[in-house]
Amino acid sequence: MKSKLAALVCAALVCGLATAPAPVHGAPLSLDPAVEKRIDALLLKMTLDEKVGQLHQLAKPDPLPLDLVRQGRIGSLLNVTDAVEAGAVLEAARKSRLGIPVILGYDVIHGYRTAFPIPLGEAASFDPALAERSSEIAAREAAAVGIHWTFAPMVDIARDARWGRVMEGAGEDPFLGAAFAAARVRGFRKGGLAACAKHYVAYGAAEGGRDYNAVDMSEATLRDVYLPPFKAALDAGAETFMSAFNTIGGVPATANRHTLTEILKGEWAFKGFVVSDWNSVGELVPHGVAADLAEATKKAILAGVDMDMEGKAYSAHLAKLVKDGVVPAKTLDDAVRRVLRIKMQLGLFEKPAPDPKAAAAAMLTPEHRQAAREVARESIVLLKNDQNLLPAPSSIESLAVIGPLADSGEDQIGFWSAQGKGSEATTVLAAIRARAGARVQVTYAKGCDVKGTDKSGFAEAVAAAQGADGTLVVLGESQDMSGEAASRASLDLPGVQLQLLDAVVATGKPVGVVVMSGRPLVLGPVAARVPVLLQAFFPGTEGGPALADVLFGDVNPSGRLPVSLPRSVGQVPLYYSQRPTGRPASAEKWSSKYIDERNDALYPFGFGLSYTTFAYSGLEVSAPTMPVSGSVEVRVKVKNTGSREGKDVVQLYVRDLVASRSRPLRELKGFRKIALAAGEEQTVAFTLKAQDLGFHDDAGKYLVEPGAFQVFVGGSSTADLKGGFEVTSR
Ligand code: GLC
Repeated sequence: MKSKLAALVCAALVCGLATAPAPVHGAPLSLDPAVEKRIDALLLKMTLDEKVGQLHQLAKPDPLPLDLVRQGRIGSLLNVTDAVEAGAVLEAARKSRLGIPVILGYDVIHGYRTAFPIPLGEAASFDPALAERSSEIAAREAAAVGIHWTFAPMVDIARDARWGRVMEGAGEDPFLGAAFAAARVRGFRKGGLAACAKHYVAYGAAEGGRDYNAVDMSEATLRDVYLPPFKAALDAGAETFMSAFNTIGGVPATANRHTLTEILKGEWAFKGFVVSDWNSVGELVPHGVAADLAEATKKAILAGVDMDMEGKAYSAHLAKLVKDGVVPAKTLDDAVRRVLRIKMQLGLFEKPAPDPKAAAAAMLTPEHRQAAREVARESIVLLKNDQNLLPAPSSIESLAVIGPLADSGEDQIGFWSAQGKGSEATTVLAAIRARAGARVQVTYAKGCDVKGTDKSGFAEAVAAAQGADGTLVVLGESQDMSGEAASRASLDLPGVQLQLLDAVVATGKPVGVVVMSGRPLVLGPVAARVPVLLQAFFPGTEGGPALADVLFGDVNPSGRLPVSLPRSVGQVPLYYSQRPTGRPASAEKWSSKYIDERNDALYPFGFGLSYTTFAYSGLEVSAPTMPVSGSVEVRVKVKNTGSREGKDVVQLYVRDLVASRSRPLRELKGFRKIALAAGEEQTVAFTLKAQDLGFHDDAGKYLVEPGAFQVFVGGSSTADLKGGFEVTSR
């Protein structure tokens, strides 16, 4: 019965909805008739070589390739980060035959000179408005030196913590990921940079969590989990997409006509351009889908890759392929049109050269530092606080600060830190010294390095702990242990850090731990040893002061996990929105579980503690049923039941109980960060549309099926306050 209804509903909907409904975010890129006319006229004047030149992106060589720019042979440069150089490129382009500007791109991922928390940390704020603000500031700093385009936001869903690039996105969930993707695009555009949604698509699902490795997944999962943040970026106005290194079912993302042209440029009607990732066109040869660079060029351009990043494939082979009729001239013209469209919409033809003095003044201003501190405060997740040891009592007279990451600005700003400088970061040690003031004696001992086996610093660390009222140990990964080409087979604390912690804990003094890392680590051994544990990811230039704000109680921590923290690396890929199985885990032997580990996360997605407590009650659904075109309102009361103000992230999860495909046990469909004074109670309402509760089949059709749904509302993905409703066929 249900499947027949589903087919009916689908048929009724398919005329209107080939894919999931576009979330309402900023404005998608649109066509400006005046710009299109201008492009028409320019295309008529361009030679074949000049057209190919627009599709050739080069990483800035030394010296600058000003001759090639003057010859119109370069459409884009990446890694120009100096206002004088940017001015020289602009002048050279002005002197070319047609004066077409070169678009300057750079990896402005989480800040330019002012480093904000890494994107995974920023996502822990569960406050997209903060990401919009940080992206805008990052863009202003980058645009000041003459950069036009950032290769961000990275919007890859990541559910395997072994993959080092989990640090670069918004974690495991498509709903949270879509919200941050849109916010970052809006921020970059507000700040003056064109955005680039990357890495299109499914790069985060690399087998074994090994970077650049193959990806295999169903069309349904691709559309339900990995595509939504990209669609949100497009809807927010992203001007460009970047094709990924990985294959999808054996077809490289950079030669994938289905994803690049049928979905992106077809179904989604994307009007911007696609740039390849670094030489990912050339890599079609080692992928084994192209015999040589000429064939790689043909496959990439015909699939829908418009610009070749640092691949030197298009510049070497595209003109001949067009001359020989292997690549239609129309295909070339469409790619060039897309590039020219973005250059014109960005106003690059009219843009003056950047002013080096103004650029220098735009960097690392007090306002930017303050913004970085505010974002970092909201991204710190309090995982454990036994006996409410935090915030540090005002009676404390001596503090020991220990660990390889307590005074490391370089690590604190994380990977992909652009022009950020570790030396300009305020470290945890420096911030604690400043906050503690003369009254509190602060001693420091590094204890050990992040990696390595040297324990010679243990004694000094133990002595520091013995001599202090309380000890803070800051440990985790070095910044280069996550990011690109930094997959790990282990999620343990590297080096001898756990042994250092053991030695410090053995003093019997109260010990708290702050973990800095670019990925979820296996923190069970740490949590078992200490009463206080915070996850700070890499909190950026002002991460030290933000941590001090939290540790001394000036700020009540409000971060929530955007990724599940595992008990064991053997659990990954680990994520909350697992599908049910035919044998749900139970005491019954013959059920889906490990014989040597629990199934659930050590700390689940959406989890985080506060210095106060919150109570949820009075869950109400506005109606028992809604039609497939309808909506219901879900309301819940949230009360601050503690003794101080605090923020909580109210989270709404939904489960589709019976459908034509097995649906996840829970899916995030709403979240809201609210501030409550002590004792204050608020009613939070979410609108749930039936159209947002659908899923895709393997034909790529979006289905909204009638049936019973459960809702769960609370402060994490394990929320147990539940309600329900029914979606009816009309
Ligand atoms: C790298 C990354 C990509 C980055 C590009 C330019 O290989 O995969 O994210 O934007 O090259 O640096």
